Amino acid sequence: MEISVIGCGYVGLVTGLGFAELGNSVIFVDSDEFKLKLINALKPPIYEPGLEELMRRNGGRFYATNDYQEAISNSEISFICVGTPSKEDGSIDLSHVKASARQIGESLRNKDGYHVVVVKSTVLPGTTENVVRQIIEEMSGKKAFIDFGLAVNPEFLREGNAVEDFFNPDRIVIGIRDEKTREILEELYSPFNCPKLITDIKTAEMIKYANNAFLATKISFANEIGNICKKLGIDVYEVFKGVGLDHRINPAFFRAGIGFGGSCLPKDVRALIAKAGELGEEPKILKAVIEVNERQPLRMIELLKKHMSSLEGKTIGILGLAFKPDTDDVRESRAIPIVEKLLEEKAKVIAYDPKAIDNFSKIFPHIEYAKSGQEVVDRSDALLIVTEWKEFGELNYRGKIVVDGRRIDKAREALVYEGVCW
Ligand SMILES: NC(=O)c1ccc[n+]([C@@H]2O[C@H](COP(=O)([O-])OP(=O)(O)OC[C@H]3O[C@@H](n4cnc5c(N)ncnc54)[C@H](O)[C@@H]3O)[C@@H](O)[C@H]2O)c1
Repeated sequence: MEISVIGCGYVGLVTGLGFAELGNSVIFVDSDEFKLKLINALKPPIYEPGLEELMRRNGGRFYATNDYQEAISNSEISFICVGTPSKEDGSIDLSHVKASARQIGESLRNKDGYHVVVVKSTVLPGTTENVVRQIIEEMSGKKAFIDFGLAVNPEFLREGNAVEDFFNPDRIVIGIRDEKTREILEELYSPFNCPKLITDIKTAEMIKYANNAFLATKISFANEIGNICKKLGIDVYEVFKGVGLDHRINPAFFRAGIGFGGSCLPKDVRALIAKAGELGEEPKILKAVIEVNERQPLRMIELLKKHMSSLEGKTIGILGLAFKPDTDDVRESRAIPIVEKLLEEKAKVIAYDPKAIDNFSKIFPHIEYAKSGQEVVDRSDALLIVTEWKEFGELNYRGKIVVDGRRIDKAREALVYEGVCW
């Protein structure tokens, strides 16, 4: 099939290249010229395991352009994969979704034949039918579900594992209203054997939010239990091994630590809180999930102060800047509030991450960045382990003060070792 993908970030790029690998032709559209150049040169603009190989293998099946008309005219399905960040007040910023809907609408005005627009960006229930539909209809002069198709297909991939997740999803959720759109998307997804859930459009939108809200809740719950365990001298990892064996619960997402970051969980939970407020609901659990998550990274500094009365002038090493291992993404990384707090305490910060230094240095250009994890260990008075990169399990921590936010067992050899909630 012929597909266009609007927005070439973590979701758009992986989705488009995944469909190319399955034999489809893909046109990528982005407003960022630099990204387009990299994609056309078969160079991934982001780090994601397996992405570069996927690009090289499928070089003849895709290209990138900034020309919406060209992309829409030469495809039958368009996936909207642009970002939906948080505004200052936590509510969702739909400006990119609206801009892409406008340009898709304009292009559809000049195209004959049935074209399906699929919203893959995470958007609140009602957005596709009330906002995206209205814009496309207005700009194209056509009617949704009659002249063009409209659907929601939320994305559940995990950064760091995104390529693997594309080909082996737990399930595929498709929100539709008309049969023609359903048939086209069922054909596109026919190579996948996982459960496929077909719902109405706003239910599909809500599934994504409920999913992320539950994952975030599980993490904050694990961290809260972990904080209590720490005071009681109990290993929370042993506790959750026992809890996770309950088939009603499941062991995933119980790794207690310093909380969740990234471009999805924090912003999606905040957007749902804002939406609930608009509806006159008070989402107490969701608010507590965010509150626990915001406090958790700062516990590392409190633990550090147990062993160093003042941080002023001390060199504090940060191991890990990405919000999780195997990605270069630093959006809402727990390293951000930690470094802010250390600088406020007048500590000298030296940091290392295998992939995320470039992105992190755009936020903190004035801290020092080391060439390796061992350099950070060797040059620091004390260390904070912030991201669980595998290579941090091979460093020599002997003689050091370590506060571990991610359970790197090798670090227990340190002179002083504090797990954040174990
Ligand atoms: N990153 C994830 O792990 C993940 C997982 C599931 C769902 N999502 C959701 O998917 C969406 C995309 O997330 P992402 O992390 O890939 O975002 P991203 O910021 O990495 O990429 C968005 C891309 O869209 C481009 N863009 C913005 N406006 C545009 C426009 N008008 N026309 C063309 N291109 C435009 C940007 O230049 C950028 O390349 C978000 O709604 C997010 O919540 C993300």
